[in-house]
Amino acid sequence: MKRIITFGTFDVFHVGHVNILERAAQFGDYLIVGVSSDALNFSKKGRYPVYSQNDRCKIISSLSFVDEVFIEESLELKKEYITQHNADILIMGDDWAGRFDWVSDVCEVKYLPRTPSISTTEIIEVVKSIK
Ligand code: CTP
Repeated sequence: MKRIITFGTFDVFHVGHVNILERAAQFGDYLIVGVSSDALNFSKKGRYPVYSQNDRCKIISSLSFVDEVFIEESLELKKEYITQHNADILIMGDDWAGRFDWVSDVCEVKYLPRTPSISTTEIIEVVKSIK
């Protein structure tokens, strides 16, 4: 039985998020998702998410191919989260390519192609521009 782990903010949930989670799930039998806390997102992206961490967790938990969700409080704790959850493979979108290779002593690391032309940032800009 292979356990997969992935991380992200998953704010303003969109089809790129569905695609990566659906594809990640296909690499194993059990999918664990670390959802960035509101505070971590602020430190990472310089803004608070539109949806609260509780709402983002609830949305991700409702997906049929997601088995477990937890809040990621710190980027530096990646290895601890991976070992605590007994994950065999870490999967991330390829916008992160190479940036998680430092955990490859505790699990396999794979980067999957991003869904083109969609992101939370872009959706926020589009919504803002609607008059
Ligand atoms: N992702 C993807 N395809 C997209 C957007 C995101 O595969 N079009 C993946 C990312 O690579 C990551 C996960 O979804 O593994 C969560 O990404 P996140 O940063 O939460 O989403 P973005 O839409 O990229 O958000 P932002 O615009 O705020 O950076």
